[in-house]
Amino acid sequence: MPPETAPAPTPQYRPGHHFTPAAHWLNDPNGLVWHQGRWHLFFQYHPHSSVWGPMHWGHASSTDLLHWQEHDIALAPDALGMVFSGSAVVDHRNTSGFGRGGHAGCAPLVAMYTHHDDARAQAGDPRHQHQGLAYSTDDGLTWTPYPGNPVLPNPGTKDFRDPKLLWCDARGCWLVVLAVGDHVAFHSSPDLKRWTHESDFGHGLALHQGVWECPDLFPLQYGGRTHWVLLVSGVKGGPNGGSAMQYFVGDFDGRRFTPAGPARWLDHGPDNYAGVTWSNAPGGRRVFIGWMSNWEYARELPTAPWRGAMTLPRELRLLPAAGALHVASLPVREVDAWPGEVLPVPSGPWPLDLDAAVQAAQGRLRLELRLAAADGFELVLGNRAGDQLRIGFDATAVAFYIDRREAGLHRFHPGFAARHQAPRVADGAALSVQVCLDGSSVELFGDGGLSVLTALVFPQAPFTTLRLHGASGLQPLAIGVRALPGVLAAVG
Ligand code: FRU
Repeated sequence: MPPETAPAPTPQYRPGHHFTPAAHWLNDPNGLVWHQGRWHLFFQYHPHSSVWGPMHWGHASSTDLLHWQEHDIALAPDALGMVFSGSAVVDHRNTSGFGRGGHAGCAPLVAMYTHHDDARAQAGDPRHQHQGLAYSTDDGLTWTPYPGNPVLPNPGTKDFRDPKLLWCDARGCWLVVLAVGDHVAFHSSPDLKRWTHESDFGHGLALHQGVWECPDLFPLQYGGRTHWVLLVSGVKGGPNGGSAMQYFVGDFDGRRFTPAGPARWLDHGPDNYAGVTWSNAPGGRRVFIGWMSNWEYARELPTAPWRGAMTLPRELRLLPAAGALHVASLPVREVDAWPGEVLPVPSGPWPLDLDAAVQAAQGRLRLELRLAAADGFELVLGNRAGDQLRIGFDATAVAFYIDRREAGLHRFHPGFAARHQAPRVADGAALSVQVCLDGSSVELFGDGGLSVLTALVFPQAPFTTLRLHGASGLQPLAIGVRALPGVLAAVG
């Protein structure tokens, strides 16, 4: 047989400000922990292939959430199986005893993850996923699996995975939330090793076309009180088909989660999945990152030599709209700190011609638009190959959208060419939208992050034209286009 030829490299699709591994397959973010000035990002990784396989934890870190340095593999499959998704914490009190010298004050990093025993899974044994620990005493560079693994054995359920650890201040113990098929389960522990089941949540609630995966639970402040947010990924049946993330806002008493309203979508786009937040982040920040893909077509994406990217890191906060609290996401403030040149933006006549801006940006731009009223508008990016990427607000449907039907390569999967929309939830008259385009990704944040769309796009040539269309009465308060890096230029 002739040797398999490697696909041609696609540097044009590599984002500049989103994490991608140098080569090979990536899926979920794992083990997100801030420690001594570094944001650690571990990830589901197959170091020998560009399709999913025996999962390892790859590792990267950053001091500013923008520039990532890839490190050696942190965890590899062992006798207990592949290394599936999980989380990491700083064990400040050394409750686990993994700290050097075994005394309080020498805080180890501790990761909890799922061992997936594929041989058992293939043999039809439902008890093939268990939770294990690994620890690091060199600031996250190298990791030692705990010889006593697994610490949370399988109770007899096929899907039992993706543990997310948190410290419960009120009870002075560790908690873990993990996905168990059609619900999540909460357990508690004094030392990360001995676990007690506390409660279950989610049977029959919200999305159930596929299993639940990768939960996260954290507090957010609003109106002088603490609210709890539960994030859950669902492998099928998202708003635009395929996998997607939902969240509940509610209360958590240290044992049990009680929702205060219905589940909502964290992101209406097709390409934000398995996202979780950093533990131990400074200043009480709640920083999120997601896998910028969808299980529907992740294996077919036309990139090489890597396959898989993360979203921009996003800050989560609670915002009121339509009588309820919503989780809003915006790019982290570090994104605002990108330096760069001011790009001139013309003021009329319609449609506005922003070609110079998009050409200067060379495929990496950030655009902000503010309108006094929720008027319809459309941004159309074009290139010499005839691709058209349409991004806008549909005033009739009252929804933001990204239309990638004619925006480039899509034949690799029948469901890829689609128009995706996010309903507007903000009730104010004024409308704002921020769009980040970077390599093969578009991220839209409407109304301060209340309506979000993340979508991959593979133009066949660099975008060189950008037009802003709007109703003749459209009154932009400001339009800013900047190359990444760049600076907002305001007109109007
Ligand atoms: C989510 C997921 C997790 C699992 C991992 C395996 O995308 O299916 O549930 O731990 O990916 O790579």
